[in-house]
Amino acid sequence: VPALKDVLGAQGFEHVGVALDQRETTGRPAQLVQKHFNAFTPENDGKPESVQPTEGTFTFGNLDRLLDFADATGTQVYGHVLVWHSQTPAWVFQRPDGTPLTNSPADRALLEQRMETHIKAIADHVNARYPDGNSPIWAWDVVNEVIADGDNANPHDMRDSRWFQVLGEGFVDHAFRLADQYFPDAKLFINDYNTEMPEKRADYLGLVSSLIERGVPIDGVGHQAHVDFGRPVQWLDDSLTAVEELSAQEGHPLAQVITELDVSTSTEMASADVNSTGAPERATPDDAAAGVENGYYYRDLFAALREHSGSIESVTFWGISNARTWLRTWPYPRPWERPLPFDDDLQVTPAYWGVVDPS
Ligand code: XIL
Repeated sequence: VPALKDVLGAQGFEHVGVALDQRETTGRPAQLVQKHFNAFTPENDGKPESVQPTEGTFTFGNLDRLLDFADATGTQVYGHVLVWHSQTPAWVFQRPDGTPLTNSPADRALLEQRMETHIKAIADHVNARYPDGNSPIWAWDVVNEVIADGDNANPHDMRDSRWFQVLGEGFVDHAFRLADQYFPDAKLFINDYNTEMPEKRADYLGLVSSLIERGVPIDGVGHQAHVDFGRPVQWLDDSLTAVEELSAQEGHPLAQVITELDVSTSTEMASADVNSTGAPERATPDDAAAGVENGYYYRDLFAALREHSGSIESVTFWGISNARTWLRTWPYPRPWERPLPFDDDLQVTPAYWGVVDPS
């Protein structure tokens, strides 16, 4: 079958990526990665809890194994993630005596310093690996999931995370300025899920607009695109258009990236906050039918993405196969999930054909 990176590359998508961990760097999974993708995102190994589990102790081993794979195969890397509220150790938000950081000047200074120490340590490590400046990491998620799903009292309905509680909206500015200082050659992205939801879209772009107006060095906007059949493709299409319009209005170039694409075959992920307690269910008891519907969804989704190939620099699938999707285990076991272009046996699914053959 044709390689995804060839088909999508010819349509103007420069980076065609997949979420990986070490399991996919050997054997048949590695062959599949090399055939179909020219980029990957470390699924978990670049997250704060992986890189700095305790203060001042940096553990780059797992990330290094992925970078070894990138070097050996000539694959680009999308960095994930510098600043996040999730998969971030508790110590980050505590004083040395274990009490919670407040928004006092001393605590704010400590948290800002920790942010800098973390970002600088990653940059130092990468620069030591690549003294000639040939790092495969072309981009970073600088901040992830900073907008809440519903309404709240914060500007832009920002998520009431520990980062926000201690530092306010400016933590995002600070993160981008540090990322720009320490990774001057990488493209710097904000990233979030549910960006296709009309209300969240407005909040997300409101924040991006403020960042641009404050002179924050942001290069682009990420859409995780964890979607499902209940979510009209038109919504993501509208969000992609809205980013293009914002870029034109502000006179500030904004790249777009589809960072974590999967199409769930469960119901009711759509209107809900993905953190809500409403448990998603099987979309249909017929798994083959769900797979076919998934293929049609991918077909329609990529028809929309192709309309925006001028601004979309990267499309990343969140996992190489249905055997490896996070949706089968999160937020509780869902063994029926078939959200990706390759099946448990690494054979193509209807989703694959939806991407490559829109007929
Ligand atoms: C997920 C991983 O796929 C899982 O293996 C892990 O247990 C939890 O995190 N948004 C993100 C990703 O930005 O980092 C998440 O990845 C999925 C949601």
